[in-house]
Amino acid sequence: MATGEIVAYQVATLGVNLVIVARRQEKLAKLARDLQHQYAIEVRTVSIDINQQNFMELIEQACQGINIDLLVSNAGQPSHMGLFIERPFEEVETMLRFITFVQVKLAHNYSRLMAARQSGGIIMVGSYAGYGPIPYMAEYSASKAFQLMSGEALHFELESSGVDLLVLSPGATKTERISFGMDAGPVVALALKSNGKRTSVVPGFKNQLTILIGRYLKSRRKYLYDYGRLISRMMPGWSQGPK
Ligand SMILES: NC(=O)c1ccc[n+]([C@@H]2O[C@H](COP(=O)([O-])OP(=O)(O)OC[C@H]3O[C@@H](n4cnc5c(N)ncnc54)[C@H](OP(=O)(O)O)[C@@H]3O)[C@@H](O)[C@H]2O)c1
Repeated sequence: MATGEIVAYQVATLGVNLVIVARRQEKLAKLARDLQHQYAIEVRTVSIDINQQNFMELIEQACQGINIDLLVSNAGQPSHMGLFIERPFEEVETMLRFITFVQVKLAHNYSRLMAARQSGGIIMVGSYAGYGPIPYMAEYSASKAFQLMSGEALHFELESSGVDLLVLSPGATKTERISFGMDAGPVVALALKSNGKRTSVVPGFKNQLTILIGRYLKSRRKYLYDYGRLISRMMPGWSQGPK
């Protein structure tokens, strides 16, 4: 199950109505039916590719007549690991737009509406990868770092307007496309519990420890080389990088 679906189920248990956004209409419709049936809530579906230019207008149209009290900005794409010089630039460009522009645009739109009502919450789903430079997924880790920094800065700005903003930075989490890591249930539960109390959160003791070590006990260069060497050992076809 994708993280967004778990968010939908956990929020639905509170009796809150939902607007769910993704590309696959059939999947959205099935999820909406399940949620309506189990929790007697209203669910609207928006089937769009969030990379299309007019994504914001389409979401706004679907939200007409309702206030969004919680935005969970989670839609994700595979991190497209590989040698930068061998990857098509379109792939890099799409990733950058998706993780930076789309997230900021959503936050800008909904934080203004929430600030006008002096209430609301935003959860930006970033990644543990945003805590340092990771070779072979350079723009993924850099754009997740952008998300972390911009989200934390916005947390401060929005606090006095009654809007909570949290950056959730998960490590590997079992979802539709990833078969290893933490279960998504506790990851989502931690985010919902932490919104309004924290600026950002990393689920899982092992992930927290790795970040602490990376931040305080290693230089950025060591962090970079440790990751680079680890990944190039796992992917022998890729460059080993500098010795
Ligand atoms: N899973 C992990 O190990 C992990 C680790 C760190 C961070 N994260 C972050 O967690 C977030 C969620 O990832 P996930 O692992 O739950 O991924 P996932 O299982 O693949 O789910 C991604 C969701 O986003 C939707 N989506 C993807 N591209 C879209 C697009 N262009 N337009 C609209 N919707 C789109 C997908 O639905 P459709 O395909 O129907 O559009 C799906 O519901 C991402 O931001 C990711 O970077 C995940």
